[in-house]
Amino acid sequence: MTYKVERNTKYDFTGQSYSTKYPNLHRYPATMIPQIGIEILKELDIKNGSMLDPYCGSGSSFASGLEVGINEMFGFDINPFAVLISKAKFTKLDLETVNKENQNIRNNLYEFLKIEDNLNNLKPPKIKNIEFWYSTEIIKNLTALKHVLYQIKDENIRRLFLIPFAETVRECSYTRNSEFKLFRMKPEEISKFNPDIFGVYFSKLKKVIETYQYVYYPKLKENVNISIEYKKFEPKKDYFDVVLTSPPYGDSKTTVAYGQFSNFANEWLEIDYARQIDNLLMGGKVEKKLYKNSLISDYINEIYKDNEKRSYEVSAFYRDLDASINKVSKSVKKNGFSVYVVGNRTVKNVMLPTDQFIAEKFENNGFKHIITYERLLSNKTMPSKNSPTNITGAKVNTMLMEYIVICQKK
Ligand SMILES: C[S@@+](CC[C@H](N)C(=O)[O-])C[C@H]1O[C@@H](n2cnc3c(N)ncnc32)[C@H](O)[C@@H]1O
Repeated sequence: MTYKVERNTKYDFTGQSYSTKYPNLHRYPATMIPQIGIEILKELDIKNGSMLDPYCGSGSSFASGLEVGINEMFGFDINPFAVLISKAKFTKLDLETVNKENQNIRNNLYEFLKIEDNLNNLKPPKIKNIEFWYSTEIIKNLTALKHVLYQIKDENIRRLFLIPFAETVRECSYTRNSEFKLFRMKPEEISKFNPDIFGVYFSKLKKVIETYQYVYYPKLKENVNISIEYKKFEPKKDYFDVVLTSPPYGDSKTTVAYGQFSNFANEWLEIDYARQIDNLLMGGKVEKKLYKNSLISDYINEIYKDNEKRSYEVSAFYRDLDASINKVSKSVKKNGFSVYVVGNRTVKNVMLPTDQFIAEKFENNGFKHIITYERLLSNKTMPSKNSPTNITGAKVNTMLMEYIVICQKK
């Protein structure tokens, strides 16, 4: 059985990026452009009701929902840093207090740094191998900055101020900033590296506040309720009118390492399991067991012939996605919709039809597959190539198209 796929150029949004309409408050890997969600929700004639995103990342689906008038949304993501970004964007703040705090933290920081003992008495954060990534002086200054930011009493406002802090801890570490994964600079680069922490922070803060104020704040009407939590999705029986999400394309270790990308931010913000996040995400727990009972199983068997270990890794991912679709399905109302935006990755030269898998699993759970749109993937920040063979330099395209899988509960 194959589920119908239709090439739809309307969804390409060629030349548009995330920032065209909804600049993010912080970079996040594999974001979905909200324009996709907006068009789909319009096409399905969804103008209100409740929406779920079980893998919400930095929250693009909420931007889509707000645009069409959905006023109740629930989001989940295991990565606390993703939730920090989403919540910062979609929590209504009092702008006058934001501006006051903006002034307060400058004064407080100035006063704090005036007394030398203050810096020496601060407890540094618990970060493994911290000296490998930061100089002693940078650790002290970042700790001082964090200390001042935590004096902001209103936790919603504090969250907005922590966004540029998260970017600063990354930018002022010895990592190469152009990568999502963590790679240390070369020794000659490190010897010349002397960032102005406070300058970096305050210039980022200015941009974050402006983006929040002009892009997100005006959309957050009084009757809108968006709840976002950093944990696995919890089912709510027959509750949602629509599920709009872009799940990961595969396990974090071999596709997009969301946990590693967010590592410094999570560690500085005292998430003690920061380094375990990639293992907690979908497909993170691998067993020596092949995944069966799906159209994807033949593809997994192909991989098995070439590389047993990879076939178990891939199995773990589909096993988790299967269990999650099962829970999501129960949570959708009769006649409600599920919209999953995914890519079909290639492992060991086998292209895995995740779009077909998703349609199959929703059909197994009381839905009818309506249509899958194929769109050109031109605006997602993620690696489009990898090296599936072990031959150096031999690369194949893993994802050039993306699929919007639409199903409806019967
Ligand atoms: C493709 S990203 C979502 C991007 C989002 N649409 C955006 O625009 O930022 C997939 C997200 O799924 C999250 N994730 C992976 N496994 C998860 C799980 N089992 N439960 C909840 N979230 C998970 C990752 O942390 C990541 O943020």
